[in-house]
Amino acid sequence: MNFHIKDENLADKGKLRIEWAGQSMPVLNIIRDRFEKEKPLKGVRIAACLHVTTETAALMETLKAGGADVAICASNPLSTQDDVAASLVKNSDIPVFAIKGEDHDTYYSHIRSVLKIKPMITMDDGADLVSTLHSEKKDLIPSILAGTEETTTGVIRLRSMAMDKVLGYPIIAVNDAKTKHFFDNRYGTGQSTIDGIIRATNRLLAGSAFVVCGYGWCGRGVANRARGMGARVIITEVDPLKSLEAVMDGYAVMPMEEAARIGDIYCTLTGNIHVIRKEHFLKMKEGAIVSNSGHFNVELDLDGLAEITEKRRMIREYVEEYTLVNGKRVYVLGEGRLINLAAAEGHPSSVMDMSFANQALSAEYIAKHHGQMRKEVYPVPEEIDRRIALMKLQSMGIHIDKLTTEQEKYLSSWEMGT
Ligand code: ADE
Repeated sequence: MNFHIKDENLADKGKLRIEWAGQSMPVLNIIRDRFEKEKPLKGVRIAACLHVTTETAALMETLKAGGADVAICASNPLSTQDDVAASLVKNSDIPVFAIKGEDHDTYYSHIRSVLKIKPMITMDDGADLVSTLHSEKKDLIPSILAGTEETTTGVIRLRSMAMDKVLGYPIIAVNDAKTKHFFDNRYGTGQSTIDGIIRATNRLLAGSAFVVCGYGWCGRGVANRARGMGARVIITEVDPLKSLEAVMDGYAVMPMEEAARIGDIYCTLTGNIHVIRKEHFLKMKEGAIVSNSGHFNVELDLDGLAEITEKRRMIREYVEEYTLVNGKRVYVLGEGRLINLAAAEGHPSSVMDMSFANQALSAEYIAKHHGQMRKEVYPVPEEIDRRIALMKLQSMGIHIDKLTTEQEKYLSSWEMGT
């Protein structure tokens, strides 16, 4: 088996950590048990480009239990857990191409390596796999049934490919499932981003001015958790509706220009480029900490920052000190890459349980229904979303009410008024 990982000797450690994660993934475990019996993915080759974490390992093993041949590479150069990569190779016989800290060329060479399995399904997180395939390996497109996409940024890229009529096969937008983004983006990013910032810096959040750039589901989650830790949270936004919501949620809302003078800690989660720029860095307080938890490392203008920097040094792992031309120091966490995955372990297993249940059931859906799908971006079928919510509730021992016949009739009628 061909693979490229850091160190095979880390496999035992990875196996135990994967087991630990699995204990908080009851929905995926139920799916895995069924897949084991029914083999709905028999003979289906799946190329995955996902963060190589304990939770992703559970997904890969589930797909394999369903009969799929899988190969995986990283969806971010800094998010790979090397012990997990080793365990997947040594204990699960799954080809992995991922090393934490890999450079840009290695990152793309790993994407090319997973494409060598000639995928029938692609499973992407950010759409780098799909975009590499469409730009360099078009010959593979005819044998692809469909793909799935895990994250907001990837779905945006894929929708623009579909709009431009260049998308070569159908995609299911896993991100847009309610059981994905309401939970993973909000509670997962919320907790793991704070976790990453704290692990990287060991700074106290209580009493600090914490600037959250972007008030989508991820920004809402981080703002809420930062407030819970006692920070004074400031939101920057471009969307009037989201800004209004942030105001009514009780946050200070202001342009970056103003927030730049106030913040102690910054975190970008916008999905857009250069949210914090040269002019903002120059206004910052001495010792300001800047981080990103949006998908790509483009939200902080690090090239601009370098231009106004006199001296740089790593002061501790994941913390780079930039001494600016104005004499002030700014600290950049995790090279401006997803701080929750670079310095911490990504979203907790319990929330990835639902995200990856969506991935597994979407792969099964593709295997069954690809013949009826066009070259478009599809939502996860509503029925799958509801089934996952129900399974999650059941696994938590929570029962809910059912509509009575009278209530069902009332909801479907229009005659009954006051
Ligand atoms: N994205 C965010 N957190 C993750 C995790 N723990 N595993 C895989 N992908 C993730």
